[in-house]
Amino acid sequence: MEENKALFEEAKKALEFAYAPYSHFTVGAALLSASGKIYHGCNIENASYGATCCAERTAIYKAVSQGEREFLKIAVVAGDSSTASPCGICRQVLWEFMPQGEVILEMGQGELAVYKVKELLPLGFELAKDNT
Ligand code: THU
Repeated sequence: MEENKALFEEAKKALEFAYAPYSHFTVGAALLSASGKIYHGCNIENASYGATCCAERTAIYKAVSQGEREFLKIAVVAGDSSTASPCGICRQVLWEFMPQGEVILEMGQGELAVYKVKELLPLGFELAKDNT
């Protein structure tokens, strides 16, 4: 699907700013909001490793901090062309803001695969929201 390919190309652009001096594993993400905008994210590592933020969460937090709350798709790419499958924390964050959404990943040789967030994280944690 052309839209997925285009979003994946946007994720590649986000690789440029990845900050990964410890793992040297760079990741880029491109997030499509329900309002039609695309937000880029990259991984941002820290000397205190646990403070590292993955590319997916960088993109979502950027977008939410700019007023977005609903997202349709996120494409994720690794700088070394391996599959950057979202970690468990990111899956839970995707569940929060795009439970009906899709994740586009590269499965080798430029082949894209599309997964539903709910396939990647069945039974994600939820609390009642009051939307404030
Ligand atoms: N990482 C991401 O940014 N997204 C993923 O989907 C997998 C892992 C980052 C975190 C860390 O900076 C590096 O990849 C190695 O774990």
